[in-house]
Amino acid sequence: MLSKVIKRGLGYSNYYMDLEKQYGCRNYSPLPVVLERGEGVHVFDVEGKKYFDFLSAYSAVNQGHCHPKILKTFIEQAQKVTLTSRAFYNSNLGECEKFLSDTFGYQKVLLMNSGCEAGESAIKFARRWAYTVKGVPDNQAKVIFAKGNFWGRSIAACGSSDDPSRFYKFGPFGGLGFDLIDFNSVEQLEAKLQNDPNIAAFFVEHIQGERGVILPENGYFKKVKELCDKYNVLLIIDEIQTGLGRTGKLLSHQWDDIRPDMVLLAKALTGGFYPVSAVLTDNEVMEQINPGEHGSTYGGNPLGSKVAVTATKVILEEKLCENSLEMGEIFLKGLKDIQKPFIKEARGRGLFCALEFHESTKVTATQLCLKLKERGLLAKPTHNTTIRFSPPLVINKQQIEEALDIINKAVNDL
Ligand SMILES: Cc1ncc(COP(=O)(O)O)c(C=O)c1O
Repeated sequence: MLSKVIKRGLGYSNYYMDLEKQYGCRNYSPLPVVLERGEGVHVFDVEGKKYFDFLSAYSAVNQGHCHPKILKTFIEQAQKVTLTSRAFYNSNLGECEKFLSDTFGYQKVLLMNSGCEAGESAIKFARRWAYTVKGVPDNQAKVIFAKGNFWGRSIAACGSSDDPSRFYKFGPFGGLGFDLIDFNSVEQLEAKLQNDPNIAAFFVEHIQGERGVILPENGYFKKVKELCDKYNVLLIIDEIQTGLGRTGKLLSHQWDDIRPDMVLLAKALTGGFYPVSAVLTDNEVMEQINPGEHGSTYGGNPLGSKVAVTATKVILEEKLCENSLEMGEIFLKGLKDIQKPFIKEARGRGLFCALEFHESTKVTATQLCLKLKERGLLAKPTHNTTIRFSPPLVINKQQIEEALDIINKAVNDL
């Protein structure tokens, strides 16, 4: 049995890692580091070692760890009331909805909890709209996704994925009405839309994060929007990882100057304090939903609503989009300057960057992550050969230079 005595004997990190291994579900394979504190761009392990956090909890902590303004809101609201359920009105939800509507320019907002729930909600809204507005026959609505997508782990999310680790032995997935096309292929999208009047929506990330920070080609999304409009299909852009300053704009699709029909937010919407997700859309879509047809016990709760407003304001007031753009340029240039035969490419936008190795090389992304960890920087592979670098957006120039120095040294260690 694990005890404090064993904890001392093994060292703190091993004690905590063993606990997770013994009692937790092995649904992740974490790097061997046990974190207990975070501040700004840094995290600290249980043995007191300091690291740059270049994952930012998959871009949930864009505002930096334990941002003081968000912390203050969180504590003040937690002392008043945290959860009332949607059985009653609360004095924060409406104000949060108005703030998000004004900030992002959509008529309506639905608050949920996880990003995956925002995706599920968007699919329900799109199907409902297809039946009640577009006139698709009952139970025939389809949703198109891009290959390489990632939007969570629900049955619908697994059923729309082409990555076996997401769907293997979790089926059946028949009857969902999902279809996949290549990301960046306008031709494939047009072929689908031309031939099927029952398509309700195209659901796509603006930059494919989990696939390894795969950028859209110039002009792709402009064409996608034109096609969706032409064939009366809703364009749902998943900004859960790319949004809220990550790519140097408040929303990543603003790079293409388009207005999707639905936008999904989560992660940095509360700066790491609390799970809140949002679907942004207009009356034509959201007003097809009636009381009792959708919801969640925690969705739209007073604590999450209050924190979401402060966390979004921090991004705007502290000019984190601008900083992401400026620091991202320096960082990406530094990554591109790293020359090794096994490096295929450095790419990114804002502070959403990746380093990819050649498939043929024996060097793995995990090996580099372990070297980075030893030298005081935490990042995680997205695939065998790709590492994503996405630090908190509060990072400054000196810290970017220190991080690049660590990455250079770790690459040389390989
Ligand atoms: C683009 C994207 N959408 C949706 C999700 C799902 O979010 P959550 O893990 O909060 O369910 C993720 C999670 O990484 C994501 O990257």
